[in-house]
Amino acid sequence: MNTIIESINRAVEEAKSRCAAAKSQADIESVRIDYLGRNGLFPELSRQMGTIPAEERRETGAAFNTGRTAIQQAMDEAVARFTGSASNDDIIDITLPGRRQCVGRKHPISRLAEECVAIFRRMGFIAVDGPEIESIYHNFDALNTPMDHPSRDPQDTFYFPDGRILRSQTSPVQIRVMETHEPPVRIVAPGRVFRRDTPDATHGMNFHQIEGLYVDKNVSMADLKSVLQDFAREMFGQDVRIRLRPHFFPFTEPSVEYDFSCVVCGGKGCNVCKHSGWIEIAGAGMVDPQVFRNVGYDPEVWSGYAFGLGIERLAMLRFHIPDLRFLYENDVRFLEQF
Ligand code: DAH
Repeated sequence: MNTIIESINRAVEEAKSRCAAAKSQADIESVRIDYLGRNGLFPELSRQMGTIPAEERRETGAAFNTGRTAIQQAMDEAVARFTGSASNDDIIDITLPGRRQCVGRKHPISRLAEECVAIFRRMGFIAVDGPEIESIYHNFDALNTPMDHPSRDPQDTFYFPDGRILRSQTSPVQIRVMETHEPPVRIVAPGRVFRRDTPDATHGMNFHQIEGLYVDKNVSMADLKSVLQDFAREMFGQDVRIRLRPHFFPFTEPSVEYDFSCVVCGGKGCNVCKHSGWIEIAGAGMVDPQVFRNVGYDPEVWSGYAFGLGIERLAMLRFHIPDLRFLYENDVRFLEQF
């Protein structure tokens, strides 16, 4: 490419952007003067044409003509903007259907997690966060989990090669809070947890919990029960009942599992509650003295309760979702209902 062709190409670009930016017919006229006018660039280039080697002349001549036409066209289009004879492309067809604005919304799990946190906040709990990649110490050891406890099995928990894990519960956040704060503490910790479960209607490999922890002097099981009861009523209305069943967790003593009466069928039995009238929400209990010792709290002075809530379980109850796999498939027909 010779210098004349380069000048032509540059001039076309410049002229086009000047035409596009033109605010009046006078602006367009000045484009004409600069490029096509008698003392403009194109007549000048035409005079230089004689200086180029014969074998380039054909190509240069063609570039000259195309360039000049392109500039003329850009000017014509710009003029049309001012005279009102714009091309059809610019006309708005008011008979076309409008474009729908798709407004995003919160995922039901996020919505429910926020609602839970809001309820607990009104009861005086503070929301905290913890890491999803955890140490074995925080997820198991400090929570008093025996070495042979099945939850430690690599068939149940995801291990990284470096020995860290994907947390299998939100309970390690209890440890992290107590390690760094003096009692009293009153926290909830919502978050994602991971287990090597085979996904089915009520289990996923990756689900959500809210952990609760209250440590103070003279905390009792009655306090635990009342906070769970209040929570259930705030979330589902006055008619919901709760039931505590004795259970075992390494980090609480005594431990319970607790259920909410099924709000879908009112406790009569349906698909959602597997015809039992109750939905298992998670576990709870009084913090084991050994856990207090592990974080440096004196169990003779401090007492506390802890609880976990499965957010998916609450979502199933709250939104009448029969299968929690719907929550992860990102099918907009499902998500649009929230
Ligand atoms: N971390 C338990 C689980 O994932 C749930 C749980 C039970 C949490 C008892 C607690 C608790 O805080 O006290 O199954």
